[in-house]
Parts: sequence; structure tokens; C-alpha cells
Amino acid sequence: MRPLGIGLALGVLAIGTALGPSKAVLAQAETNPQEFSVATIKRGRQLYTVHCVTCHGKDGRGDTEMREFLKTPPADLTDDQWVYGGHDAAVYDAIYTGREERDMPGFRDKLTEERTWSVVSYIRYLGGERP
Ligand code: HEC
Repeated sequence: MRPLGIGLALGVLAIGTALGPSKAVLAQAETNPQEFSVATIKRGRQLYTVHCVTCHGKDGRGDTEMREFLKTPPADLTDDQWVYGGHDAAVYDAIYTGREERDMPGFRDKLTEERTWSVVSYIRYLGGERP
């Protein structure tokens, strides 16, 4: 029985490690730790174009054809109305966790913490903020 017991213990450890620290973590900073610079915004724009533009649109207003296909219309990211909160950490968490049941995918496995913050910077830019 002993080897089985050890095997089980190791198995539990392995699962624990697999669920442990991931590449991106829920926003630990209340405010965006990256400098709001042209470089960060450009980086955010590249990532936004790859991952977000289909639903939220080039201008971030969410007025895309995807409206027809989704359970919830993609949010307008340029206004100051926020379903999940408009401060940096809330926007970060909306991207990280997503709202799968409402067709906003979570990006925890696709974007690192650093990249997620760059996207947050680009959302600020879309909302009219300038460095
Ligand atoms: C498959 C379509 C789809 C994609 C791709 C997508 N979103 Fe969304 N997003 C949605 C929908 C739908 C909502 C509205 C969810 C709700 O209201 O509950 C939403 C909501 C959000 C919100 C919350 C807004 C608020 O008012 O609180 C943020 C922030 C957001 N998306 C950012 C992004 C970013 C950044 C990306 C790319 C990394 C992205 N989304 C990719 C569909 C999408």
C-alpha cells in the first residue's frame, strides 16, 4: 500500500503545481504598472488587433457584425460606462478572467500579465487618453 500512497501524494503535488502560479496572474497592481507611452500603446494595439478587434471593432465601440452572433453585445470600450468597473485592475481582470457565459472570452492562457497591461493601455488610448 505504501507505494500507492506515495504515488497518490505525488499525484496531488503534481496537480497542485499545475494549478499553481500561471504566466499571467490576476491583477495585483491597482493601477497599470506600465508607463503610458507611445511604445506601450503600439504594443497594445498589435495585441488588440489580433485578439479583440473581431468583436470590439477597430475603434473599440463594439459595433461589429459579431453583435448578431453573441449572447451579449461586445462592450463599447471607449465610453465611461463599465459593466465590471473602469479602474485599471477591473479592466485587467475582465480581460484575464473573461465572462465566458456572456461570450467575452478569458485571456489568461493567451496573454501574459505584461501583454494584458499593454492592452489596457490601448483601451485607454481608444477612450481618448493621450500620453
Ligand atoms: C468573441 C467576442 C469577443 C472577443 C474576441 C473579445 N471580447 Fe471583450 N467582450 C465581449 C462581450 C460580448 C463583452 C460584454 C460582456 C458583458 O457585458 O457581460 C465583452 C466585454 C469586455 C470588457 C468589459 C467591459 C465592461 O463594460 O466592463 C472588456 C474590458 C473587454 N471585453 C475587453 C476585451 C479585450 C481587451 C479583448 C481582447 C484581448 C476582448 N475583449 C476580446 C466579446 C469579446
